[in-house]
Amino acid sequence: MVAGKVALVTGARRGIGLATARLLAAAGARVVLLNRAGDGDGSSLDELAGDLAASHATECLAVTADVADPSQLSDGYRAILKRFGRLDILVNNAGILGDARLGMIPDAMIRQVIDTNLIAVIANIQAASRLMRRSGGGAIVSVTSIVGLRGNPGQVVYAASKAGIVGATLSAAKELAADGIRVNAVAPGFIETDMIGHLGPEVTAERLDGIPLGRAGSAEEVAEAIVFLASERARYITGQVLGVDGGMVL
Ligand code: NAI
Repeated sequence: MVAGKVALVTGARRGIGLATARLLAAAGARVVLLNRAGDGDGSSLDELAGDLAASHATECLAVTADVADPSQLSDGYRAILKRFGRLDILVNNAGILGDARLGMIPDAMIRQVIDTNLIAVIANIQAASRLMRRSGGGAIVSVTSIVGLRGNPGQVVYAASKAGIVGATLSAAKELAADGIRVNAVAPGFIETDMIGHLGPEVTAERLDGIPLGRAGSAEEVAEAIVFLASERARYITGQVLGVDGGMVL
């Protein structure tokens, strides 16, 4: 129930963003893959978009931009308008970690994490909702984290940025409902992607211990929840934060 829709996925180069872009394309959406330069497996974002479009007989557009850079982001929206003339779905997925204990957190890290994980999400919600209003509605799904709801030692900045997404989601849902725009979030728990690749075996075992379903989640499992919330099947759902965490939050 997203066929023909134009969907923007930030951080679409790998992990949860790539899985979401793939699922949307497979369901017939026209997908804009936005990512900063780098972080790939060697192939370019253009090649990735081309392959995705070809394998699902749809249209895809690659936009290389840093979400935390306002001018790059506006250039990205200009490119979307030029190519598709509309936007129906926004998936705010791009995000970075910034792990450090209190007292040791560099100012630059605080700014970079908040700029990327929170300010860029608000900027995207603003830019996307302007376009969605023009075409009579849309759906926004942002990726927060269990850490934004529960906290985690060593992740004060990351947790603050992700908790901020929850507040932004609830407020935007109230504000944009009258325009036919639904705003929701997913809160993944422990998902096997490059983002958690740096964790040692001890921390990994400890995290797995706290998951009632007994295993880490996959990027595809998070993507399923994102695409559901973005689709017409969730047409009466707004202002929700859906945990995708194997029960970790319990
Ligand atoms: P990942 O590190 O594998 O992928 C993130 C993607 O975002 C990369 O392609 C990266 O290049 C892109 N990106 C990062 N900063 C960017 C920027 N400034 N501008 C444009 N693109 C940028 O991470 P993963 O695991 O796929 O995470 C996706 C989202 O899910 C993030 O928001 C993360 O915080 C969240 N999340 C992940 C969890 C996990 O266990 N992996 C758990 C909870 C939340």
